[in-house]
Amino acid sequence: MTQVPGYSYGSPENTTSPVSLTDLDQLKATLLWSDDDERWRRRAGELLTPQAEDILDVWYGFVGSSPHLVSTFSGADGQPDGDYLAAVRRRFALWIHDTCSRDLDQAWLDQQHEIALRHTAAKKSATDGVNSTSAEVPLRYLVAFIVPLTVTVEPFLSSKAGPDDDVAAMMTAWFKAITLTATLWSQPYADGW
Ligand code: HEM
Repeated sequence: MTQVPGYSYGSPENTTSPVSLTDLDQLKATLLWSDDDERWRRRAGELLTPQAEDILDVWYGFVGSSPHLVSTFSGADGQPDGDYLAAVRRRFALWIHDTCSRDLDQAWLDQQHEIALRHTAAKKSATDGVNSTSAEVPLRYLVAFIVPLTVTVEPFLSSKAGPDDDVAAMMTAWFKAITLTATLWSQPYADGW
């Protein structure tokens, strides 16, 4: 995993998150995070991680056909930069695994902070050395993106689920995990977080 350029999970290069583990616990409680969610989050990861490339085809198709979204991947000429899109995609595949399979501990919190910063002017475009005309991913799209990232995984869970699997429970756990992630990623943008 660490062979992917710019992937920094667990690295000392990640800034320590300003969000405490107590904050995280309280956020999880607010999302009604349960032991069942934890179990089904991990099971969802077993089904989704091997399908990451197919899932990314769907997400990148959506972003690619949405000018207001793909413009955040612009290069110096204002056009979508294929190398930038491809470099981020490799880390996005690992993110699917991390979202379902990592312990929600300090290293995980620090990784959320790092990726959050990479969506803001503080670190956007720096990891891949891109000279982008887009300085920041607008917070409103980051929040709204919870919906496509959630609803599009259902067919991927259903197609691989076994007789003992509960697809609805996996969908709930995935939805909560994405909402938790997007909430943490809003921190560097927002006063009064
Ligand atoms: C909940 C919503 C979102 C999730 C879970 C998500 C996920 C990710 C992930 C995993 C990465 C790679 C991070 C890394 O460097 O390891 C990334 C980077 C990026 N995402 Fe998002 N994203 C979200 C919303 C959006 C939206 C709505 C846009 C576009 C409008 C966007 C544009 C970008 C861009 C441009 C990068 C590259 C950042 C950089 O220069 O390092 N993201 N995103």
